[in-house]
Amino acid sequence: MKQLPEDLVSIRLTVNGVVRSLDVHPGETLLEVLRGRLRLTGTKRGCEVGECGACTVVLDGRAVNSCLVLAVQADGAEVLTVEGLAREGALHPLQRAFLEHGAVQCGFCTPGMLMSAHALLAQDPSPTPDAVRRAIAGNLCRCTGYQAIVDAVLAAAGEANSS
Ligand code: FES
Ligand code: FES
Repeated sequence: MKQLPEDLVSIRLTVNGVVRSLDVHPGETLLEVLRGRLRLTGTKRGCEVGECGACTVVLDGRAVNSCLVLAVQADGAEVLTVEGLAREGALHPLQRAFLEHGAVQCGFCTPGMLMSAHALLAQDPSPTPDAVRRAIAGNLCRCTGYQAIVDAVLAAAGEANSS
C-alpha cells in the first residue's frame, strides 16, 4: 500500500471516461482538483460558494456545484466535465445548439450551463421550457437573458428525439 503523508488521502475518479488516481488534501474541492491538478480548466471558478453555477459538473449523473463537493466525497464517482462533451472532434449537440441559438456571449457561464442541461436531458429527454428553466436555475448568466439558452436546450432535445 502506498505510504502517504498524513494529510493526504488517495482517491480514484473516473473523469470523462478516464480513471484518475490522485492524492488529495481532505479540504480540497472537486473544482480545485479538476482545474488545478487535472488541468481541466473548462470548468469555471466563479463565486466558490455555490451561488453562480459556473463550476457545474455532472457527478454520477447529477449536476453539482464542484466548488461545494470535496474531492474525497467524489471518491469512486464518475465525473463529466465540459471537456468530455465533444466526441472525436465533433461538438456535442448541446454545444452546437448553444452556438446556433446565440446562447454563448462571454462564455463564462457556458460550461456550467451545458453540464446542467446535459444532466437534465439524460433524465428527461423531452423537457418542457419550465423544466429547462428549473434545471439551469442555479446557473447565472450576465449576458444572454437566458431565453437563448432555454431555446438551445430545447433545440438540442428536439434534435436528439428526431434522430
Ligand atoms: S464557483 Fe461554484 S457555484 Fe460559483
Ligand atoms: S454568456 Fe456571459 S455569463 Fe453567460
